[in-house]
Amino acid sequence: MSEKEPIGVVGAGWVGLVTAACFAELGHRVVVREIVPEKVETLRRGDVPIHEPGLPELIERNGERLVFTTEMSELLDGPRLLFVCVQTPPTYSGDADLSAVQQAVEEIGDPAGKAMVMKSTVPVGTGRTIHREAPDLAYVSCPEFLREGTALKDFMEPDRILIGTDPGEEWAGDAVAEVYEPLGAPIVRTDISSAEMVKLASNAFLATKISFINEIANVCEELGADVTDVARGMGLDDRIGARFLQAGIGYGGSCFTKDVSALKMLAANSGYHFQLLNSVIEVNELQKRRVMAKLSKHLDSLIGKRVALLGLAFKPDTDDMRGASSLVLAARLEGESANVVAYDPVARDAAAPLLPGVEMASSAMDAVEGADAAILVTEWPEFAKLDWAEVARRMNTPLLVDGRNFLDGDAITAAGVIYEAIGRPSAGDRSVVG
Ligand code: UDX
Repeated sequence: MSEKEPIGVVGAGWVGLVTAACFAELGHRVVVREIVPEKVETLRRGDVPIHEPGLPELIERNGERLVFTTEMSELLDGPRLLFVCVQTPPTYSGDADLSAVQQAVEEIGDPAGKAMVMKSTVPVGTGRTIHREAPDLAYVSCPEFLREGTALKDFMEPDRILIGTDPGEEWAGDAVAEVYEPLGAPIVRTDISSAEMVKLASNAFLATKISFINEIANVCEELGADVTDVARGMGLDDRIGARFLQAGIGYGGSCFTKDVSALKMLAANSGYHFQLLNSVIEVNELQKRRVMAKLSKHLDSLIGKRVALLGLAFKPDTDDMRGASSLVLAARLEGESANVVAYDPVARDAAAPLLPGVEMASSAMDAVEGADAAILVTEWPEFAKLDWAEVARRMNTPLLVDGRNFLDGDAITAAGVIYEAIGRPSAGDRSVVG
């Protein structure tokens, strides 16, 4: 059997590490270049600086095929395929900040016979601009669709692999297709700009789906319907599909927030007003605030009240706090002069510096002790196993807002807790209790 294509990865962030570890698992030798020396030290020691289930084990198992370095020259000495996995955060204007991509481009230079494979999400048109700067280096757009918390499975069992190349550089696209070939996923070959657009359009569409079901949830509340049943009924229609129809306090995370706004700005910069995306963003912002109204239904004022946040990460199985709804909720509660206490099984350390006024509890039970209200922000599985009768005893006012429609409302009501959810009939009574 011929030896597998060596792979270069620029950036040991979340995408870079998952990509590197999974390619190593597939039998490739992978050189990862990371600019922050401390991160390289950590990785060489065998520690993994991010929380992603299964990743530490995968990196350990493939240790001999993984090389971590701060030197770009070490990367440029070997592999033909250089996967660029650097961050592209939003700027104040909502455009994508491409400085890390630009730095990678400058450092890689323009070597012939190699290909830059762009995994980072970049605005449509970026690939062609980079290519004009480095005409000898082939360019492949290969957007990633990994989700935090399930990234290894998503890598190994992708729905599709996008490979965008421009004429004359099919060899680079073929080489990328070959390294993904063992995964057995459909491979979609396009030009560079179309591949870039698939990524932004996919994330914007999923975000639209979430904002849509959230608006349906809000109308369900007014009309006495249950959004979980509505979503189930809708989702069985193949054309709609059941996924991403979970109503709640809105989407968070770095990708949806960033990509929806990047696509909106990209359209605006080209003179097109992407009206729908404005609403998607606005609905998502307002959705977090609706929780406040649910508290006011039961508490006459929040001044001096103790409010517990159950979960802080933007979703379970990650410690990522980027775009987390908990940040907005904590700020709104503090704005109403409530005392906020929070518990998250994994994101506590990542969250603490971002929430200096919030008391960090060491368990869910500690968080609800003496609380006047609790809000489930992140659907960590351990919250489904809580003893709600005990929660009711510990709380000053047994009021729970389930921001993810995650819990069994009837069981919680039976345990003596007033239960409020999103777009579902309220199981608790509606009287003012405090
Ligand atoms: C997303 C995309 O799914 C992935 O393809 C892309 O590569 C990166 O962005 P991620 O941000 O990791 O992945 O998480 P995802 O599971 O998509 O959830 C995003 C947010 O939407 C979370 O806050 C989640 O709670 C919320 N969400 C998701 C809902 O509110 N309802 C749903 O039905 C699904």
